[in-house]
Amino acid sequence: MDKKISLTGIKPTGMPHLGNYFGAIKPALALAQKYEARYFIADYHALNTIKNPQELRDLTYEVAAAWLSCGLNPENVLFYRQSDIPEIFELTAILTAFTSKGLMNRAHAYKSASEANKESGNDPDHNINMGLFTYPILMAADILLFDSDFVPVGRDQKQHVEMAADIAQTLNSNYKKPLFVIPDGVYDGVNESVLGLDGRKMSKSYNNTIAIFISEKQLRKTVMKIVTNSQDVSEPKDPEKCSVFSIYKLFADKEKQDALAKRYREGGMGWGEAKQELFETMNAAIKPMREIYDDFMADKSKIDKILARGAEKAREISTKKIAFLRKEIGIAK
Ligand code: TRP
Repeated sequence: MDKKISLTGIKPTGMPHLGNYFGAIKPALALAQKYEARYFIADYHALNTIKNPQELRDLTYEVAAAWLSCGLNPENVLFYRQSDIPEIFELTAILTAFTSKGLMNRAHAYKSASEANKESGNDPDHNINMGLFTYPILMAADILLFDSDFVPVGRDQKQHVEMAADIAQTLNSNYKKPLFVIPDGVYDGVNESVLGLDGRKMSKSYNNTIAIFISEKQLRKTVMKIVTNSQDVSEPKDPEKCSVFSIYKLFADKEKQDALAKRYREGGMGWGEAKQELFETMNAAIKPMREIYDDFMADKSKIDKILARGAEKAREISTKKIAFLRKEIGIAK
């Protein structure tokens, strides 16, 4: 039996942080062991927010290098850039003809932007571009073009995956044929439980992230900035109510976790010491990946090559699929 297909898109809008690593990168790479994986950089999705060309170029490299150094093996995972696959944009045009405006009106990202405008007394369409409005259609094209069975994403993307399934059903039912595989979302990342520097969920929008591939020195400095309570050294501390410990748990095995929890509860350990322990454990885990990352960033032509090869392989799939669809819908003979 053919393997099922797992596909996800990575939007290059920020340097990957620990929340991304544990919430998206790690679970997606685990699925790649089980399924045929197709993972791509969604650079045209990023264009909606990143309007500076150098920034978009840099972020694309950073994100690609991050996934490659976290263990994405381009021999096993089809790894490409959205913008290299023109068929995605042709499929977007096809899907647009089947997507009701009402469905797009209900998309969370658009709706909240529009409601925020109304609340602040602006025109509801103020600063809203069509890229934001049609975002779910482009995403549906990403998913449907590659016959995806599973789409590992954060919960915030659930609605988009459901819309892709909806749109696929619409076409399948119009043409009375399973033109598209109906995709299913996979939402088992641990994003929710990765706490940021301020104790809230780690998120770029809270400005409380720890980027994975900063230098050792910067990493140490950032860890020291984690907000803790004002208990002094002698006091016993509760590991379960502490961001330092919650991040430690992501990197340390059970034995190390128990040992540090014990030191918390006994008292006599200050926050500086706990943070130093976190830094050392984290850094040991990140170091080998950071070396690969730095190598890629020092010679970006390696990334270009991998993505070019990925695009070539992806287009073998996408050109066939689009030729088939053109016939089915009556655009081609
Ligand atoms: N919208 C996704 C995000 O913001 C990125 C994305 C684009 C994507 N195309 C996709 C995810 C296709 C899964 C499948 O994270």
